[in-house]
Amino acid sequence: MDSLRGNNGPRYKHLAAEGAPYETITLDPLTPIIGAEVGGVDLAGPLGNRTIDEIHRALAENSVIFFRDQHLSPDQHLAFGRLFGDLHVHPAAPHEPGIPELMVIHADKDSPRANGEGWHTDVSCDAEPPMGSILYIKQCPPKGGDTLFASMYAAYEALSERMKAYLEGLTAFHSGDNYRGMYANYGVADKPSYPTAKHPVVRTHPVTGRKALYVNAGFTRRILGIPRDESDAILRYLYEHMANPLFQCRFRWRENSIAFWDNRCVQHRAMWDYWPHTRSGNRVTVKGDRPV
Ligand code: SIN
Repeated sequence: MDSLRGNNGPRYKHLAAEGAPYETITLDPLTPIIGAEVGGVDLAGPLGNRTIDEIHRALAENSVIFFRDQHLSPDQHLAFGRLFGDLHVHPAAPHEPGIPELMVIHADKDSPRANGEGWHTDVSCDAEPPMGSILYIKQCPPKGGDTLFASMYAAYEALSERMKAYLEGLTAFHSGDNYRGMYANYGVADKPSYPTAKHPVVRTHPVTGRKALYVNAGFTRRILGIPRDESDAILRYLYEHMANPLFQCRFRWRENSIAFWDNRCVQHRAMWDYWPHTRSGNRVTVKGDRPV
């Protein structure tokens, strides 16, 4: 990290636009760059149009938003997700019986792995990757099990102008092959094939118009149109750069909390530091558009 130090102030100078005040919800930002806790709303609904608009705006302005003390049935969790678009079905992960849109997020002392242990944005192997994911944790370990979130706007904006110019127009190949065998412990059989897609290395968010880095360690196999060794080196650099804590917030779960992140501009990473305890919940994922 010494290489990040300089004499010109912080590596990333974030200037947030002053938003209009919220009227139906409260907002408590975790950092000036990413993440805010939303209060004054019961997501079990029904939610008024004004509240729904303000939740949309809170997500656009903060990239990931958190809600505490929510008590949702599976149907209410699904209904909340549908306020933001059609629901996505994960190509590999286990789901609650008979509800493919309700993904299981669970790790305990016998788990061979936990979800999301490496930095990632969800399912970028899809041609139209999910816009957002709504994770509802119902059982928490006594300590630990935090999730880290990183702003891919900040990661992009902190690049040198030369690097931004270099990345402009580049496309990368994403593959879902890493799902092979991943959920065998849940009895999920592998599919004959998983999705693949080509996406811009830098995407423009359809709502905010801001540019965000969009390469994804578990899924991006290579940047197209450049030599393999160059692609490997650039991806390695970008993954290291994206993981700078300057771009991050860290959410400490309590039971019945919800995190709603925008996959178009956020990566996340879940800490499995609570073994042998159990952490458990469900994720509802909202479909998105083709990245441009
Ligand atoms: C995920 O990647 O969806 C899981 C995140 C978490 O468990 O905190």
